[in-house]
Amino acid sequence: MSLRDALDKVRTAAIKDVLAAGSAAELTRVRVHYLGRKGELTLRLKELADLPEKERKAAGEAGNQVKVAIEKELSRREADFASTASAKIGETEWIDVTAPGTPVPEGHLHLTTQAIREITALFRRLGFTRVRYPEADYDWYAFEALNMPPDHPARDEWETFFVDLPPGEKGKVVLTPHTSNGQIHELERKELPIRMINISKCYRRQSDVSHVPMFHQFEGLVIDKGISVTHLKGVLDHFAKAYFGADRRTRLRPFHFRFTEPSFEVDISCDICGGTGLLAGGAVCRLCKQGWVELGGAGMVHPNVLKATGVDPEQWGGFAFGWGVERTFMMKAGVKIDDLRVLYKNDLHFLHQF
Ligand code: DAH
Repeated sequence: MSLRDALDKVRTAAIKDVLAAGSAAELTRVRVHYLGRKGELTLRLKELADLPEKERKAAGEAGNQVKVAIEKELSRREADFASTASAKIGETEWIDVTAPGTPVPEGHLHLTTQAIREITALFRRLGFTRVRYPEADYDWYAFEALNMPPDHPARDEWETFFVDLPPGEKGKVVLTPHTSNGQIHELERKELPIRMINISKCYRRQSDVSHVPMFHQFEGLVIDKGISVTHLKGVLDHFAKAYFGADRRTRLRPFHFRFTEPSFEVDISCDICGGTGLLAGGAVCRLCKQGWVELGGAGMVHPNVLKATGVDPEQWGGFAFGWGVERTFMMKAGVKIDDLRVLYKNDLHFLHQF
């Protein structure tokens, strides 16, 4: 018998067996019997090697066709068995499609992001627009235009990281140590009046219970005509009541910043002792000691800042304030965090509480 005839016989026998198989398991046996490593077809195909070269190619093609034909029939029957099996599941198994599913574990936004969103929404209601300015910026924006000439000692208060880049026209590049650079960018746009809230990352060389090297500030700037300290006080009071609670008050304490005149530090009435400095039993409040907790700086924009950006201080004026987002969040009633660094430790036990 020629190899051709032998191949044809294998094909006929294999297809007959495939059609006769009564289950998926039987089909698998048929597959192994013909196409397995020692299967009938496989052995035949091995014989090809012994053929004279000129016959080998044609016989090889014929062998391959037989293999494809058997494969095709096998797959068709396998699919038949699979679909009958799944159709029968309904008879043997029962699924309650109304049963509640397994919940997927869900995270939440980071506490700082939550605080930023809440702060943004509060100021938006007062007509402030949220902006963002570079977090690696030129000296001009971070210091010089804020009335801090090169080498001015006031700069020492901002423990600044300098970026190792050649200085540009506007000076060296720094990682912004505060968000006040946003005031200059905003003023330079020359779109007056201004009501902005700039929230972004700040960097300083510091780390302890109330400082981290990377933190966030929110910086407000209002520039218009006829703006006075009472507007500043009104905005800060509104914010304090809306964010911290209706019974909280703010206090402006005289201070010095180069970019505001007059300048203030802003205190908020303490949540622990209700702003009295004394606890129920008469003991002194450990957190604030005298009823007030410091929040951040504020003041009336210095005329030199307006001049540096080409805005006429005779016509325009306003106020600015800049506070730490993490600090502000910590002072929220009920938060009770006594070490700011925990916010960035990625400790899920801590973060899950909020
Ligand atoms: N930039 C100041 C700081 O980081 C805070 C500040 C003070 C911002 C007074 C202001 C301001 O806008 O008017 O310490």
